[in-house]
Amino acid sequence: MTDASEVKQKFEEGLNTIRALTGLTQADFDTLKEAAPQAAEWVDELVKLFYDTLFAHPRTAAIFREGERAEREKTLRNWVLHIFTEANDNDEFWKEQARIAFAHIRRHVTNEIMVGIAVKTLEFVHGKVIEAFGPEKGSQVAISFARVLFSVVGLTAHGYDAMSTLAFMESTGADADLTDMLIQQSVNTIQDMLLDE
Ligand code: HEM
Repeated sequence: MTDASEVKQKFEEGLNTIRALTGLTQADFDTLKEAAPQAAEWVDELVKLFYDTLFAHPRTAAIFREGERAEREKTLRNWVLHIFTEANDNDEFWKEQARIAFAHIRRHVTNEIMVGIAVKTLEFVHGKVIEAFGPEKGSQVAISFARVLFSVVGLTAHGYDAMSTLAFMESTGADADLTDMLIQQSVNTIQDMLLDE
C-alpha cells in the first residue's frame, strides 16, 4: 500500500516544478485582480466558447452526462471569476485545484484534452485583455492568466500520470523501478509499431 506522505510529497514536487517552470507567483494573482471588472464582462462568452468546443468534438462530448451542461457552465464560470477576483498563491488555493484535478481524472479528462482546451481558452482571453488594456498591459494579464491556467492543467496531467502508475504498481506489486522499466519497454515497442513500419 502506498504511503500517504509519499503521495503528498509527489504532489508537492509536481506543483513546485510547475510553479518554477511557468514562473507563477502571487504577483500573477495580483495582476489578474486588476482585470477582474473586465473579466466579468466576457466570462459568459468564454464559457459558451469552451463548452461549444467540447460538445462539438465526439471524444470530449462523450465525457458529459445527459443534461449536465448547465451545471458545468456554472462551475467553470465560478472558477474563472474566482481566479480573477479572490484566488491567491496559497495552500488553500492549490488544495482546491488538486480536488478539481481529481474530479477531471475521475471523468477521464485526459491530458491532451486539458491542453487543447487550455490553448483555446487562452486564445480567447488573450484577445479580450489586449482589446481592453492594449498590447503591453494586456500581454502581462494574458501571461498571468496562462501561468495560472497551465498550472492547473499541469497539476491534472501530473495527477493522471501519477495515478496511472500508482494503480499499476498497486495491482501488480511492481516497484517504481520495475514499473519505469516496463513503461520504457512499451515506449520502444509502440514506437517501433507506429513509426518504423
Ligand atoms: C482548463 C480546463 C478546465 C477547467 C479550469 C475546468 C474547471 C472545472 C471546475 C472548477 C469544475 C468543478 C469541480 C468541482 O468543484 O468538483 C469542473 C468539473 C468538471 N469538468 Fe472541468 N474544467 C476544465 C476542463 C474540462 C474539460 C476539458 C472537460 C471535458 C472534456 C471537463 C469536464 C468536467 C466535468 C465532467 C466535470 C464534473 C466533474 C464531477 O463529476 O464532479 N472539464 N471543471
